[in-house]
Amino acid sequence: MNRKVVIANDHGAVAVKRILADHLADRGFTVTNLGVDDEASVDYPDIAQRACAEFLQGGYEFGILCCGTGIGISISANKVPGIRCALPQNVFAAQMTKEHNNANFLAFGGRIEYQEPVTDMLDAFIDSEFLGGRHGVRVDKMMKISSC
Ligand code: RB5
Repeated sequence: MNRKVVIANDHGAVAVKRILADHLADRGFTVTNLGVDDEASVDYPDIAQRACAEFLQGGYEFGILCCGTGIGISISANKVPGIRCALPQNVFAAQMTKEHNNANFLAFGGRIEYQEPVTDMLDAFIDSEFLGGRHGVRVDKMMKISSC
């Protein structure tokens, strides 16, 4: 199976994007990089919108968005209907956001000092499964909020 991930970042997260993209490639994922690869200033809402539009074309398992904190780019992504972008703070949260929220995007901050390696957080997300059941009911309710 061809497992595909779209990844994008602003100028505040070039290094962490590279770490995550390389890790995905090592794990056999096909990675579409829609982010920037130098420090020239760009606007993270544009980056989020581009990556979400690509994801919604279909064929992607999930997406990753990175900015300086991960905050602006995750807020932007969550404005796009159909996107559930989580900003995990550690391995536990990365696992939980797959199991409970069925997040389809992860966000990371290139200027954040994480207590655990971002690659471990990414692995925890990839290697977990959505639990469904009562969590599915909650996710359905969550996704209806934007269309009210
Ligand atoms: C860019 O300087 C910075 O504001 C951005 O990367 C991000 O941290 C916003 O939330």
